[in-house]
Amino acid sequence: MKIRVFDSYEQMSRAAAELVAAQLLIQPDSHVGLTAGSTPVGMFAELVRIYQEGGTLSFSQARFYNLEEKMGLPPEDESTCRSYLHRHLLDHVDASADQLLLPDSMAHDVETACTDYEALFRSLPGGRLDLQILGIGKDAHIGMNRPNQALIAACHPVQTESALYAAMGVSSILLARRIILLANGESKAQAVANMCTGQVTTAIPATLLQLHPNVVVLLDKPAASLL
Ligand code: GLP
Repeated sequence: MKIRVFDSYEQMSRAAAELVAAQLLIQPDSHVGLTAGSTPVGMFAELVRIYQEGGTLSFSQARFYNLEEKMGLPPEDESTCRSYLHRHLLDHVDASADQLLLPDSMAHDVETACTDYEALFRSLPGGRLDLQILGIGKDAHIGMNRPNQALIAACHPVQTESALYAAMGVSSILLARRIILLANGESKAQAVANMCTGQVTTAIPATLLQLHPNVVVLLDKPAASLL
């Protein structure tokens, strides 16, 4: 686990965007797992800026995925992850809607949406993503994999208080060739410290990343304050 600490959220976001941009420059047809939430908003903005200013970065051959999708809603509903990723990235770069591959939010049956999404990951070259971007929850969850006695490896349904999701399991996350995890703010400091230095346990899902050979953790100073 490589840890880099930045003075500000903006600097952290820029570094993350540069890593994603480098991935796409080196391998334009990369399969990239994205994440929603507030943490990566700055990274997406920087990627759009690099794209619009630079002229060399292209998203046109890549495929994009996400850690989860909200079920039972038309894809264009503003609360779906599809809408989020269009708003923050796809609508501003040379990527089309069919490059974003998410669980079918309108599937009759969430189990089928999950099985299909898992099969999609298995069909990737080498059965894995080239890069997965992650945030972290205050309880050190990754994606929608919350602390538990056991975690589910494959894509699975997750019911929260407000919605039903089809969510990536820990296997597709951990199989990614490379992982970039972002965390900012003091509220994530304990989770970050646990992730980096705690014993590996499903009770702190992010500790599983200690087992991965290629993880970069990008933090702002407050998120790194307990390291
Ligand atoms: C949700 C998402 C996670 C994300 C986390 C933190 O639970 N499923 O993937 O990392 O929230 O979100 P935020 O970046 O808004 O703090």
